[in-house]
Amino acid sequence: MKCLVIYGTLSGSTMTAAELVGATLRETGHETDVVSIESATKDMVASHDCIVIASPSWEDEGKDGQPLPEIRIFLSTLTAADLAGKKMAIVGLGDTAYPHFCGAVDVLEARLKELGVATLATPSLKIDRYYSLRDNEQKVKDWATALANTLTS
Ligand SMILES: Cc1cc2nc3c(=O)[nH]c(=O)nc-3n(C[C@H](O)[C@H](O)[C@H](O)COP(=O)(O)O)c2cc1C
Repeated sequence: MKCLVIYGTLSGSTMTAAELVGATLRETGHETDVVSIESATKDMVASHDCIVIASPSWEDEGKDGQPLPEIRIFLSTLTAADLAGKKMAIVGLGDTAYPHFCGAVDVLEARLKELGVATLATPSLKIDRYYSLRDNEQKVKDWATALANTLTS
């Protein structure tokens, strides 16, 4: 399957995690593009079968635990028709020191539901302190492998 990993980042960790997801999907035989939210387009979504959205949690519009505004805005341009038949998955990076740990994942899941995505390809991944916890790389690889398996089965 053709996969597209769209990430937003402020300090770089979500980009690193998104690239690792992309590399793992490629290793498992899926042609995969990894793009930043700033360069993502509706045409890219249209030309891929599986879309992974990766976001840290930050404050947006005065609320904690939100996806980056660029991701919120991009999703607001999509319709149910744009996502019909797509395999969708979500990766969130956050920090358990904040009250709404990886709240962005919950917000993104709700938005995808509004867009008619009844079931995600695999349960969303929530990663705590990407750089400081040693097993996080392995967690990301394992998650991406599990996602890849759902795409081939
Ligand atoms: C100002 C600020 C607000 C944050 N708010 C949250 C939050 O509400 N929930 C959470 O889980 N993590 C929160 N974080 C942690 C970031 O989501 C986490 O460090 C993430 O890995 C950053 O990703 P990035 O390097 O891709 O920007 C916050 C961090 C900062 C600096």
